[in-house]
Amino acid sequence: MAFLDKHAILERSPTLLLTASLLVVTVGGMVEIAPLFWLENTIEDVEGVRPYTPLELAGRDIYIREGCYTCHSQMIRPMRDEVERYGHYSLAAESQYDHPFQWGSKRTGPDLARVGGRYSDAWHVDHLKDPQSVVPESIMPKYAFLASADLQTNQTEATLRTHQFVGVPYSDQQIEAAVVDLRNQADPDSDYDGLEDRYPGVVVSNFDGQPELTEMDALIAYLQVLGTMVDFSTFTPDASR
Ligand code: HEC
Repeated sequence: MAFLDKHAILERSPTLLLTASLLVVTVGGMVEIAPLFWLENTIEDVEGVRPYTPLELAGRDIYIREGCYTCHSQMIRPMRDEVERYGHYSLAAESQYDHPFQWGSKRTGPDLARVGGRYSDAWHVDHLKDPQSVVPESIMPKYAFLASADLQTNQTEATLRTHQFVGVPYSDQQIEAAVVDLRNQADPDSDYDGLEDRYPGVVVSNFDGQPELTEMDALIAYLQVLGTMVDFSTFTPDASR
């Protein structure tokens, strides 16, 4: 075809070829990227997804500090083997309030995106203190020291405020009550009505089974909420998006 033969002109002139390539990439880029600036939101809102409680957030910071993500992913892909093993595939909304997200790419251990509620708090205490005591062939390291490390609360308010700054919808009231809410979630004998109002569906428990408030409490509170916010017995994906 005569028209296609003209391609030889492009291929023989580096300047022309570069200019034409640039043009193609620019158009392609505009078509793919520009609409994102006009979409209200690229993440579909899903009922039940709420910001982390101060205690869960503290646990998440410990999870990151201890490098749990180097062995554990938090992202169930929509493939049959994964869905049968771990549960419903992960939704974008489920990591909407994660800064930074914990999807990960390494699975030395299992995916943890839906580990919440799968085991009792006591199982987690035993497992974190000495993984081989419950799973003999485990190669997971021991984290027993978390049970004797007092949980520091001097950064709690600031952490929530920082998350608010990057877009997590914490109210000023939630920030003011942060330290009280954090303590109450680990103490079933406290007056935690306010906490429940501020974080619907929150689980209150003495996570590590000891009277002291420890890093173990926070980490288990975090593990127990993972993947539990959305009720998949009623959830239907919105295909119109
Ligand atoms: C060196 C890699 C490694 C690191 C680091 C690691 N884990 Fe694990 N983890 C594993 C392996 C392997 C298993 C599977 C065997 C077992 O249950 O112990 C596992 C299992 C688990 C399970 C049980 C999951 C399930 O569905 O049965 C939880 C919960 C868990 N890890 C939490 C953590 C937390 C929290 C941290 C950080 C404090 C952490 N892991 C750090 C390797 C690791």
